[in-house]
Amino acid sequence: MSSKRILIIDDEENMLHMLKTILSKEGYEIITAGNGIEGLEKIETNLFDTILCDLRMPEMDGLSFLKTVKVKNIDSTIIMMSAYGTIDLAVEAMKHGAYDYISKPFKPDEIILTLKKSEERERLRKENILLKKEINKEFGLENIITKNDKMLQIFETIHKISDYDTSVLILGESGTGKELVAKAIHYNSKRSGKPFVAINCGAIPENLLESELFGYVKGAFTDANQNKKGLFEEANGGTLLLDEIGELPSNLQVKLLRALQEGEVRKVGDTKQIKLDVRIIAATSKNLGQEVRNDSFREDLFYRLNVIQIDLPPLRERREDIPLLINHFLNRYNEKHHLKAKNISSAALNILVEYDWQGNIRELENAIERAVILSEGSRIEVSALPPDIRKLKAPREQEVVNDEYSIKRIHLIMEEQLIKKALDKTKGNRTQAARLLEISHPSLLSKMKEFRLR
Ligand SMILES: Nc1ncnc2c1ncn2[C@@H]1O[C@H](COP(=O)(O)OP(=O)(O)OP(=O)(O)O)[C@@H](O)[C@H]1O
Ligand SMILES: [Mg+2]
Repeated sequence: MSSKRILIIDDEENMLHMLKTILSKEGYEIITAGNGIEGLEKIETNLFDTILCDLRMPEMDGLSFLKTVKVKNIDSTIIMMSAYGTIDLAVEAMKHGAYDYISKPFKPDEIILTLKKSEERERLRKENILLKKEINKEFGLENIITKNDKMLQIFETIHKISDYDTSVLILGESGTGKELVAKAIHYNSKRSGKPFVAINCGAIPENLLESELFGYVKGAFTDANQNKKGLFEEANGGTLLLDEIGELPSNLQVKLLRALQEGEVRKVGDTKQIKLDVRIIAATSKNLGQEVRNDSFREDLFYRLNVIQIDLPPLRERREDIPLLINHFLNRYNEKHHLKAKNISSAALNILVEYDWQGNIRELENAIERAVILSEGSRIEVSALPPDIRKLKAPREQEVVNDEYSIKRIHLIMEEQLIKKALDKTKGNRTQAARLLEISHPSLLSKMKEFRLR
């Protein structure tokens, strides 16, 4: 282990000498300076774990030194040494970012203890930064792949709302990334150190859902032989994702609304309420507004949840993301399965970009994982794609044109249609078809190849 390096700044020779002796014995590497200016020179050329700095010195005093160092954004822990009569200065120094101070005169043990304490804090701080980075890698916005404008606007919304405790309602078809977005909100918020808990309201039998959400007390029903915490309580201080909120039975809609309004929950079989601090994110693939109009979802609960609404576009409305996502999943599944299907043939890519992805990103993810495993070589060919996708019939042309805005893509669609029409009319005679289309014979052949026409 390399030894820690300490800079000691003091105008008293004796003090410097004494500290150097004590701390060197403890295994520290010591560098000394006689005043603030000399101290600043030393930090230009060295990295220090800790700086011990006297407060009252000629030339540049401790407080000015501290302020200068902080402006320079230097990462050392700074501990001030205050002589009799400078305690107020020491307190002032801590306001300016000193970690601690020690009063002179001190015993060797005292200074060593102060240093150890600050090192422990520093270790924890660094560990914390690392952990945060890890979490961000897994759940942060960096992990949501997109270049779609609507999605990028959603990123902005996430940044804006993360730190407020408002409820969020996430709408989107199955597999569009609702849970991913919910996690990004949580891990971007000041709640990130507390739990993120998710429940799928549609996957739990109605009679169990209440005790799952709110918990129960011993004796509440036959099998309740001890108290159990509900998910609300588990999520205390953090975030609770109520997934498929549209599936919540109406009696629980009432109870949920009450819990949200009062910030309290009552366990099944209990008489008292527990106060909780939980941020609610609800998600659904249903059209919840329609459910409200049908009277199958309570309007008051809807408004309570729908403070901020995030509407995730389906994948077929952000086809520009498909190649990015393919790359992302190729990397992920190559790594996971120790395989090397590093790229994808343009024919296979074309099919994937054109497919309409009812199951959205989850379906694409599954298709890529499958293809990575089935591919023999380093390139994914059409044959490795799932049969349903591979034998995809071209979607009805008019439909495609209706929700397409890219001139380039409409151009391609029209071109394909015209070529098919011409080939139909000429019963497959390419020379005549080329003439009808007013293009050259070779260019018809190359276009037929591009559109995979025979
Ligand atoms: N933009 C994205 N970038 C990378 N991965 C994504 C993206 N969107 C979704 N995914 C991945 O797709 C899968 C489905 O996402 P998620 O579970 O968040 O969707 P969902 O909307 O909650 O789906 P469901 O309605 O089926 O519960 C997950 O594996 C997720 O990591
Ligand atoms: Mg989900």
